[in-house]
Amino acid sequence: MFLGKTQLPYYPSKISIESGNLCNLRCPLCPTGQQDKSAQKGFISFDVFKKVIDEIGQSLTLIRLYNWGEPLLNKDLQKMIRYAKERGIDIKISTNLSMKMEDDQIDVLLKAGLGKIYISCNGASPSTYIKYHAGGDFELVMDNMKRLIQKKEELPNCHTKLVWLFHVFKHNEHETNAAQELAKKIGINIKISRMRPDMGKEIFETTQKALERDKAWIPDNPAYTVISTKRKKRIGCMLPWTETMINWDGSVLPCCAVYSEKHAFGNILENSFAEIWNNEMYVAARKEILGMKNEKKTICHTCKNSGFLHGG
Ligand SMILES: C[S@@+](CC[C@H](N)C(=O)[O-])C[C@H]1O[C@@H](n2cnc3c(N)ncnc32)[C@H](O)[C@@H]1O
Ligand code: SF4
Ligand code: SF4
Repeated sequence: MFLGKTQLPYYPSKISIESGNLCNLRCPLCPTGQQDKSAQKGFISFDVFKKVIDEIGQSLTLIRLYNWGEPLLNKDLQKMIRYAKERGIDIKISTNLSMKMEDDQIDVLLKAGLGKIYISCNGASPSTYIKYHAGGDFELVMDNMKRLIQKKEELPNCHTKLVWLFHVFKHNEHETNAAQELAKKIGINIKISRMRPDMGKEIFETTQKALERDKAWIPDNPAYTVISTKRKKRIGCMLPWTETMINWDGSVLPCCAVYSEKHAFGNILENSFAEIWNNEMYVAARKEILGMKNEKKTICHTCKNSGFLHGG
């Protein structure tokens, strides 16, 4: 990016691969939770996953095996994790953990070789939890969390880090201390994180506009708001130089914030990654971010117009 290159002689080192975009919950600021119809629904097959890893696995250091859905619903999850792990790639997932799990499922998950499991749980009590995780069950999540912790203690060779992910909204900001205390009591690391406004719409609008629409969700404490008034205007985005995203159906997208495959730069089932990574869409996106003349319109053009979702 700093050299002004738009054709890249290397592959990205980080990738998000969508395990699937179906989910058992209905979180209100997630397009999957909203049952947004602008993306086709399904789970990635092991063959598509393998095709990606076989082509670019050597350059990868990290795979995030989730995006717009619940990874634990994909029946090939363990197989994919193992395949990546055997090739020395760090791999992590984020899960709502709000599902009945047999002991052997807990065992298999911890033995699969994941570097990290994020457990999304935005509440420290059932009544607060349910305001965001519609359709979920707080007690079930807590029970599964405790079982994962206990099982991990019984497996000395398990290096999977467990992290409770607590996004702060208006309705739960009074429970951040309670959540931290609860996490300490049950023996899990907790990450208190800033919430995002409607995640499927972010790219298409300015942050200020999104915050205005979703103000009922925005925490009062400025430390927890998604934008700081002190932060300088975003001036660019490096993701098309460093990362990529593959949807469950093989669509290649510039980052994980894009929901629909209609913004894809290509499809891994039709072309090799090498062809897509330097195709006219990727090159146009990079040129647009660098302020160079370009031909094709991409989702990065839209994102730049909105003030860039990611970037310095
Ligand atoms: C769309 S979810 C898919 C993975 C899984 N279903 C889960 O919820 O963990 C991907 C990530 O988005 C996070 N997330 C959901 N709603 C959010 C919000 N409004 N702001 C910030 N992160 C959010 C989740 O905690 C999760 O880590
Ligand atoms: S945030 Fe995760 S758990 Fe909630 S609806 Fe979206 S995919 Fe499902
Ligand atoms: S410019 Fe926007 S859409 Fe493009 S990669 Fe960056 S964050 Fe994603």
